[in-house]
Amino acid sequence: MRAGLDESSIAEARAWRAAAPVELHERLASTNDRLDELAASGAPEGTLVLALEQLQGRGRHGRAWASPPGGLYFSFLLRPDEAMSQRLPATLLGGLAVCQALEAFAPPHAPPQLKWPNDVLLAGRKVAGVLGEMSRGPEGNRLLIGVGINLAADPRQAAPELREVAASLGEVTPAPDAVSVLRAFFGAFAALHALVEAGREAEVLAAAAARMPLLGQRVQVRLPQRVARGVFSGLSASGGLVLESEGGARRDVLLAGEVERLRPQ
Ligand code: BTN
Repeated sequence: MRAGLDESSIAEARAWRAAAPVELHERLASTNDRLDELAASGAPEGTLVLALEQLQGRGRHGRAWASPPGGLYFSFLLRPDEAMSQRLPATLLGGLAVCQALEAFAPPHAPPQLKWPNDVLLAGRKVAGVLGEMSRGPEGNRLLIGVGINLAADPRQAAPELREVAASLGEVTPAPDAVSVLRAFFGAFAALHALVEAGREAEVLAAAAARMPLLGQRVQVRLPQRVARGVFSGLSASGGLVLESEGGARRDVLLAGEVERLRPQ
């Protein structure tokens, strides 16, 4: 096991939903898969599964998530009721909470930034990602939030095709220990979740928007069936990307996709 990492220090760092169980594994296929099993047997909101290494880590859009030892890989459970599940996507809260957590550790010249919807970049390369998986089981709603953060781990060793796009925190600053990052993450997540519960989503959206350097830029967004181009003009009330055509004649709200900067015309 990694030094300083045990179930009680992880539970202390999570704090949010303090009574919910915690599992720590040396190695798992995917923490989301293990959490789904626990959810199916009735695990409560806040249940947390962490693994030091994943053999089949999953990313968004069916991609693999390289998960060598040295990174932080965890999943936690939300049980949103209907009203809560209509509000801001928890995955956006997850990405913003990672970004806010890493602000405490990243050097001032390379602050973490958010790439819509919930990738976290350092110096333009991806350092963390969030995968949300929602389903309805007989025991109630399950929303699994999986978070992968490249701390000391260099994902490019496991996946050389990531050379240009991935980074680890350890490349820009002495890598912080996993428990400290976890504590910062759950501190940020709990505060954001409380804002949403209190109907203050606008503050969450403003905090997310302030960390998105592509906002206001010409972008292209890869959607399942097409590529949309325009100006990323803001976030909708539900956290969608508002895309305006040049000249503002058309306005679309996109709920998922891969966004990339385009050169100004
Ligand atoms: C992405 O950016 O594509 C999302 C990556 C999410 C990776 C995390 S690691 C912990 C959890 N378990 C998984 O299998 N995936 C998520």
